[in-house]
Amino acid sequence: MMMTANARRISGDVWHVGGSDRRSPIFEGHLPVPAGMSYNAYLILGGETALFDTVDKSVASAFIEDVKAALDGRPLNRLVVQHMEPDHTAAISALAELYPDMTVVCTAGAKRMLANYCPGLEQSRVVTVKDRESMKIGDCTVTFLTAPMVHWPEVMVSYLAEEKILFSADAFGTFGALSGNIFADECCTVKEWLPEARRYYANIVGKYGPQVQALLKKAAEADIAVVAPLHGPVWRSDLVDIISAYDKWSRYEPEEKAVTILYTSVYGNTARACGLLADELAARGVKKVKMLDMNVTHPSYGVAEAFRASCVVFASTTYNNGLFPSMRNLLDDMADMGVKDRDAAIIANGSWAPQAGKIMRAKLEEMGGMTFIGEDVTVAGAMNDASRQAVSALADAVAQRVL
Ligand code: FEO
Repeated sequence: MMMTANARRISGDVWHVGGSDRRSPIFEGHLPVPAGMSYNAYLILGGETALFDTVDKSVASAFIEDVKAALDGRPLNRLVVQHMEPDHTAAISALAELYPDMTVVCTAGAKRMLANYCPGLEQSRVVTVKDRESMKIGDCTVTFLTAPMVHWPEVMVSYLAEEKILFSADAFGTFGALSGNIFADECCTVKEWLPEARRYYANIVGKYGPQVQALLKKAAEADIAVVAPLHGPVWRSDLVDIISAYDKWSRYEPEEKAVTILYTSVYGNTARACGLLADELAARGVKKVKMLDMNVTHPSYGVAEAFRASCVVFASTTYNNGLFPSMRNLLDDMADMGVKDRDAAIIANGSWAPQAGKIMRAKLEEMGGMTFIGEDVTVAGAMNDASRQAVSALADAVAQRVL
């Protein structure tokens, strides 16, 4: 069947529905999404009909039209709510009204949240399921696997045995809108999708590494051919790549042996010290060195870099006897997201009382498992021969560590 609604077949009776928002510059109130954001949902059109999740309010009205068109006059029998965050639940009340016989399937935790988010929905229409409970939906067998704190407490994922599809809720999600090509292998290469998948993971799920590890173990018991997340592309041929990336990220293991330099600079002197370090590293044969000016870069990119690289150099101006605000924000966000076990190096600047190094070191020590590389470099306002030599010595130590 060729469907005229905005829906694409995943396999069998399972269809992708949803929408992409290319207008909102931020996601979850603070994360920049320059390439937009997709909100995916999945529809089963077998002997019974079921929808897995809804969407954000930004795309809800078009989504409801698409679901109606895809159902083509049939009622919606079930709405499976895997996660109650509002970016996936904005259409629940409208669908409940449109399809009065529809039941909602969710965990007990989600049912409690539903009562608050959708007060008009009768509790008698909500069916709760437990971990590993299976349910027949027409000819399909769906098994629900709870995934608490990935990244909300009430989360579950769902495994559709006949099609070997894991509906993974927010897990394996990626920033970025979808443009017709819904499968990762038809819209981008691993090199293209990895940075935004990493930034999504690091800033949304990063804190919950142990819980992600538990979910990966649970999911490994199933024979999975397709992973269908609530954001970004659907994974099939790239499955191994995204799962192994998740495994590394959730163990807080660096993705690559690499150096990233995250810095703040007011008048350019700290930036010059970092530029010199990058040059000296390159001269020693270190490849793919990356520098981010955190004064003009959202901290989410810095946090993602800290998940990627084995060695992170932090460079900051001293400001009001503390850290420059963008470095303070970055380190606080890194701590919130559980970053640990990295090689770290420090460059501090301060014209009369350089405190930044001491403060950065203390914050990094609190994160845990940090190995400090070389001697901290102190710049007294402008670079001089002594600070250039200190940067050179730091380059020796960092290069030795990563080469
Ligand atoms: Fe995409 Fe946790 O919401």
